[in-house]
Amino acid sequence: MFKLSEEGLANVKKELARYEAKESAIIPSLYIAQKENKGFITPDMIRHLSQVMDIPEARINEVFKFYTMFNQKPVGKYHVQVCTNISCALEGGREMAHHICKELGVKYDEVTSDGRFTISKVECLGSCGTAPMMQVNDTYHEKLTPESAMNLLRGMR
Ligand code: FES
Repeated sequence: MFKLSEEGLANVKKELARYEAKESAIIPSLYIAQKENKGFITPDMIRHLSQVMDIPEARINEVFKFYTMFNQKPVGKYHVQVCTNISCALEGGREMAHHICKELGVKYDEVTSDGRFTISKVECLGSCGTAPMMQVNDTYHEKLTPESAMNLLRGMR
């Protein structure tokens, strides 16, 4: 049964106190929980958050399932989210995503055998002016080519 750490619980309570509508604290709280569980969320965790936040599980689940930054299964140490939406696609984002998977020998949303990477295709990350781009964990990398993206990833241990 998942339980937030003391620090995680305090942070969720801080988020709850920050907003007038407690639903506004769902996204930051899911982030806190995901960080405490190696990058993914389980039904157990939703149940726990529901109790802690006094918000129905279904409501938290809706938010969880809607946003691609929350993961439903384990991801690698580096979660590489490649934007394949229109602006990035026009600049080669889809080919870049494909190239990365091929180089690393994985399909989308799988974890590489060394546990380092998961590659996901995602919708617009709001950085269309610097397409094509990808987000690795919390950091944006912009104006990439398939080669520069791979060079970046090779440097991540
Ligand atoms: S389309 Fe890729 S960041 Fe907007």
